[in-house]
Amino acid sequence: MLVSAKEMLEKARDGKYAVGQFNINNLEWTKAVLLTAEELRSPVILGVSEGAGKYMTGFKTVAAMVKAMMEELKITVPVALHLDHGTYDGCYKCIEAGFSSIMFDGSHYPIAENVEKTKELVAVCREKGMSIEAEVGSIGGEEDGVVGAGECADPNECKQIADLGVTMLAAGIGNIHGKYPENWAGLSFETLAAVKEKVGDMPLVLHGGTGIPEDQIKKAISLGVAKINVNTECQISFAEATRAYIEAGKDQQGKGYDPRKLLLPGTEAIKATVKEKMELFGSIGKA
Ligand code: 13P
Repeated sequence: MLVSAKEMLEKARDGKYAVGQFNINNLEWTKAVLLTAEELRSPVILGVSEGAGKYMTGFKTVAAMVKAMMEELKITVPVALHLDHGTYDGCYKCIEAGFSSIMFDGSHYPIAENVEKTKELVAVCREKGMSIEAEVGSIGGEEDGVVGAGECADPNECKQIADLGVTMLAAGIGNIHGKYPENWAGLSFETLAAVKEKVGDMPLVLHGGTGIPEDQIKKAISLGVAKINVNTECQISFAEATRAYIEAGKDQQGKGYDPRKLLLPGTEAIKATVKEKMELFGSIGKA
């Protein structure tokens, strides 16, 4: 059964570890993340961007696939199905489709409009027992066409949004989606500490988990980050393993072209990346 992310994130915050959000793109991705979480007894959040939802033919398909897969695979660890960087309309579609969590990304609106829309969605989610993530200060880089400049959030605006009763808050602290450029200045722990001071107990979310050095991940967790999003790193692992299989000519040996064989190395590579992240985030054995 899918659960809201509230309880798992509050436990993570109190226990000083973080729950990973791994974005899913298809059946192989979903299976790899669910099986790894179950094997390692870790809570997990499956992230679905609007683009990935569309690719999988719609949020209803995604919710049905995840729910059925959890039943067939006998997954017993807590799993939240979460909309990543949702638009206002996308949030309502996911609520209707049976997701257990949403992110409303109103960071590109003026703060008053972000507040107004977030407030409305908080009320809807509360009634349905769903968790909701809000964002202040855009996350840099590009994800599924959503481009952000990587600004640092204003701690006072963070407090304004946190006070609306969201479950978790994504505050820009110099993090960006995708690979980090060579000249990246690193996370702004000054901003993170200032945000934490304003929002108190609110579990904080770190986007752009791909490529952040281990020491910075650990420091972010010590300063109140309870959820870390990873997307690009699983995509790179999948692509590398698939390329190696094809370059070795394995698709041309026997029935190596069978999709169940062709996609297997990539699926195993996703599992390895998810495991590595769960170890780093400290969520293993916390289910
Ligand atoms: P990366 O693709 O950089 O890992 O970021 C993922 C993310 O933040 C999803 O919202």
